[in-house]
Amino acid sequence: MMVARSAKAPDGQNYTIVAQLPGPRMRPPIEVTDLIVRLLAILLTAGLVCYGLARHLTSPVSRLQTAVRDLSAGNLATRVGSAFKTRTDEFADLGRDFDLMAERIEGLVGIQRQLLRDISHELRSPLARLNVALELARKCSGADAGAALDRIELESERMNELIEQLLRLAQLANHVDGGEQAALEPVQLEDLVKKVAADADFEAVSQNRAVRVVEATECVTTGSTELLRSAIENIVRNAVRYTGEETQVEISLDRASGEDRPYAHIVVRDHGPGVPEEALEELFRPFYRVGHARDRQSGGTGLGLAIAERIIRLHGGTLTASNAREGGLQVEVHLPLEEGR
Ligand SMILES: Nc1ncnc2c1ncn2[C@@H]1O[C@H](COP(=O)(O)OP(=O)(O)OP(=O)(O)O)[C@@H](O)[C@H]1O
Ligand SMILES: [Mg+2]
Repeated sequence: MMVARSAKAPDGQNYTIVAQLPGPRMRPPIEVTDLIVRLLAILLTAGLVCYGLARHLTSPVSRLQTAVRDLSAGNLATRVGSAFKTRTDEFADLGRDFDLMAERIEGLVGIQRQLLRDISHELRSPLARLNVALELARKCSGADAGAALDRIELESERMNELIEQLLRLAQLANHVDGGEQAALEPVQLEDLVKKVAADADFEAVSQNRAVRVVEATECVTTGSTELLRSAIENIVRNAVRYTGEETQVEISLDRASGEDRPYAHIVVRDHGPGVPEEALEELFRPFYRVGHARDRQSGGTGLGLAIAERIIRLHGGTLTASNAREGGLQVEVHLPLEEGR
């Protein structure tokens, strides 16, 4: 391109200035493959950056989520501190707050348990002295006092039993919280369930009720036979107490496959009134009894299922309760089995 312009010099001479301008520079056309490569490079870089960012944001959230689940499952020693040590953002603050909260809950629960344990221990000695005094009173008093003294003896036996149960519960809770395992011996669940059922049936017959094993598969777990027997016995005794007259308590034992290993699945089902839905979760709380059980003074203290739940948890299993569709309570035990047994 050329441009020209005329101009007049001071001496009157006319000039024409002509200049040649460079034309527009032509870019070479971009190849399609080149374009695709560039696009892919941009996508890859953006993808990697986004992935890194997403991981950076979500990994503390999922760590916190696991910790909250652990805590609510009863593992009060859960902390996230070490996982957040390298961070300085809001997640680190949240992690610190979580640890503080967990520490406080653990402390409070610890104090409550210690108190329960101490009270139970302290009650033992006066109770022992009471029994000695009772025997003396029997010797010194006349026949008229017999009935009253018998009553005192009965109540003191009940109190003794309650204290034993409380101490047992506290001991089990300690083992569970300490992440301890029950004594390791092979436990033949099939035999155990059948024996418990036979004993319970023997007692139930006199109350016009029955206990039946409807299914029993051979299952071997490791743990303490004595503890597992007492847990299952407790569940079956409850079922016998609540099942309707002329009905039977049904017990089944079969194998189920869990995520990582096989499980023994024990179901104890009765034909009684069941439990209100809102009370199902509460059954495993110490001293919890459903309204009607409190009213009619059934004699239970509400510790049986709490103890059973801790025993099953000590064996790495779970205990749950639900109302059967046709009525009655259904208590389910899941116990991990040894691979291939
Ligand atoms: N099969 C059942 N049907 C209906 N209610 C039940 C059944 N099993 C348990 N419950 C309710 O759950 C409560 C708690 O049971 P748990 O075994 O812990 O205590 P308990 O039987 O009252 O006393 P303990 O077992 O300490 O002698 C019972 O008081 C009762 O209200
Ligand atoms: Mg009970």
